[in-house]
Amino acid sequence: MLLSSCSRAVGAMLSALPLLALLSALPGAAAQGETCNTTTLCSSANPCCSPYGYCGSGANFCFGGCDPLASHSLTSCEPEPVCQNANISFNSFDRILMNQSLYDGNASRWDFILNEGNIQNTSAGELVMLLTESNGGTRLSSTRYVHYGQMTARLKTGRWGGVVTAFITMSDIKDEIDWEFPGNETSQGQTNYFWQGVIPAQTAGQTTGNLTDTFSNYHDYTIDWQPDQLQWLVDGNVVRTLLRSSVTDNSTGVSRYPNTPSRIELSIWPAGISSEPQGTVEWAGGYINWNDSDYKSAGHFYAYVDSVSITCNDATPASSNVTSYVYGSNSTGNTPSISFSNKSTIVTTGAAAPATGSPRSAWAIFAGVLGAVALAGAF
Ligand SMILES: *[C@@H]1O[C@H](CO)[C@@H](O)[C@H](O)[C@H]1NC(C)=O
Ligand SMILES: *[C@@H]1O[C@H](CO)[C@@H](O)[C@H](O)[C@H]1NC(C)=O
Ligand SMILES: *[C@@H]1O[C@H](CO)[C@@H](O)[C@H](O)[C@H]1NC(C)=O
Ligand SMILES: *[C@@H]1O[C@H](CO)[C@@H](O)[C@H](O)[C@H]1NC(C)=O
Ligand SMILES: *[C@@H]1O[C@H](CO)[C@@H](O)[C@H](O)[C@H]1NC(C)=O
Ligand SMILES: *[C@@H]1O[C@H](CO)[C@@H](O)[C@H](O)[C@H]1NC(C)=O
Ligand SMILES: *[C@@H]1O[C@H](CO)[C@@H](O)[C@H](O)[C@H]1NC(C)=O
Ligand SMILES: *[C@@H]1O[C@H](CO)[C@@H](O)[C@H](O)[C@H]1NC(C)=O
Ligand SMILES: *[C@@H]1O[C@H](CO)[C@@H](O)[C@H](O)[C@H]1NC(C)=O
Ligand SMILES: *[C@@H]1O[C@H](CO)[C@@H](O)[C@H](O)[C@H]1NC(C)=O
Ligand SMILES: *[C@@H]1O[C@H](CO)[C@@H](O)[C@H](O)[C@H]1NC(C)=O
Ligand SMILES: *[C@@H]1O[C@H](CO)[C@@H](O)[C@H](O)[C@H]1NC(C)=O
Repeated sequence: MLLSSCSRAVGAMLSALPLLALLSALPGAAAQGETCNTTTLCSSANPCCSPYGYCGSGANFCFGGCDPLASHSLTSCEPEPVCQNANISFNSFDRILMNQSLYDGNASRWDFILNEGNIQNTSAGELVMLLTESNGGTRLSSTRYVHYGQMTARLKTGRWGGVVTAFITMSDIKDEIDWEFPGNETSQGQTNYFWQGVIPAQTAGQTTGNLTDTFSNYHDYTIDWQPDQLQWLVDGNVVRTLLRSSVTDNSTGVSRYPNTPSRIELSIWPAGISSEPQGTVEWAGGYINWNDSDYKSAGHFYAYVDSVSITCNDATPASSNVTSYVYGSNSTGNTPSISFSNKSTIVTTGAAAPATGSPRSAWAIFAGVLGAVALAGAF
């Protein structure tokens, strides 16, 4: 069943909300610098425009999510690590960086960065993303970008009203492709897409139903993003197809189709809380019941991820000297050009350098003073 056009529009705006909600929790973001957008670019002193629209320097500003079009120049953000085929499982967290402030751009070292929240492992080798009343949700993003390719997450969603599980792709200029799961419905998934932060069509958000319980059962959710066609699949079956041509404005040639390199994001987030707009709360299935017996017994809400696989499909295959994607000036159609580059993505000194400290893996942290309790991600 499709959402009504009203709730569709509400649902459409939602993926940006966790970012906005986080802003208030971002220590010193405003102090770092002024706001940035494509008309007011960052200055040379604080060259990088963060995903939250603030100018600054360092790992939290110049790596993943840094907006090239709103930064000081097209080369202010660090190059985006190029796509690599992978099938990532979570038997070990050795390739998850727990503190994004320490990221140096080495995508060969890390598959995912924990941007916020807490994660746990299970004896079956699953990744568990936690959500609590005091600490909020959890989000991880891939270190590498995909510029077309097929991505599959094998996951189990939450089952609580107001708690949303998500597997999405997000580009640095906010092209976005979604699988989202409001927790009050465990037989459905919602698909959606954005072009440069806006929802291009009334039909952008849709619901896929009749799934066996998404909380109890693993399903493979796929985003098959190709240059001319985008498909969403469940367990290998296509449930939705979007043609690039269908969202191309034939008079201007502007294609409102996600078309810039994107990171994979996995998250569980609290949409049913009083600080969210009423429409968001309703879309997510109401206010979160913090007295839920699952929450009481586990001490948190949660979603499981078993694996993430990536099959790249760049328009031309990347030769072995290619390390990254870089943005160029706009092509016709208000879309920046994207090129392969051999620039290193790794930075150890200068404006984009990480905060000092050794980038410990999750295991080092688990084994350390904090024991088995994962640590709150810092922004
Ligand atoms: C861009 O940022 C400037 C400076 O903060 C602000 O005055 C302007 O309204 C912003 N423009 C848009 C389109 O948001
Ligand atoms: C990824 O690898 C795991 C473990 O080998 C396997 O069970 C799973 O089917 C693979 N996923 C995909 C989408 O290939
Ligand atoms: C990046 O990580 C890889 C894998 O851990 C390592 O071999 C390499 O030395 C690192 N590169 C730099 C420049 O630190
Ligand atoms: C999580 O991983 C650690 C380190 O390998 C291991 O000691 C621990 O038993 C794992 N926890 C679970 C629940 O499997
Ligand atoms: C579930 O399947 C029935 C029968 O095919 C169909 O009518 C209904 O629209 C489906 N529901 C959803 C939410 O897809
Ligand atoms: C543009 O033209 C194509 C081919 O005729 C058509 O399928 C598509 O719907 C048109 N795009 C829009 C946004 O109307
Ligand atoms: C979940 O919430 C949506 C949006 O408010 C609502 O339409 C739907 O009926 C709810 N589903 C259940 C099973 O309560
Ligand atoms: C949850 O429990 C607390 C304390 O027992 C109570 O004050 C509160 O009203 C309950 N909330 C809900 C939503 O049931
Ligand atoms: C390039 O395109 C982007 C996205 O539509 C737009 O925001 C920006 O203003 C354009 N820049 C120039 C210099 O045309
Ligand atoms: C990679 O090497 C080839 C062959 O030398 C060259 O043509 C190409 O420009 C290089 N690509 C990059 C991104 O450096
Ligand atoms: C790197 O790219 C530059 C052009 O941007 C080219 O001149 C150079 O040969 C490339 N180096 C390698 C090792 O491919
Ligand atoms: C992350 O690393 C930075 C730089 O070393 C440090 O200031 C911060 O406290 C660390 N965050 C956490 C949660 O450990």
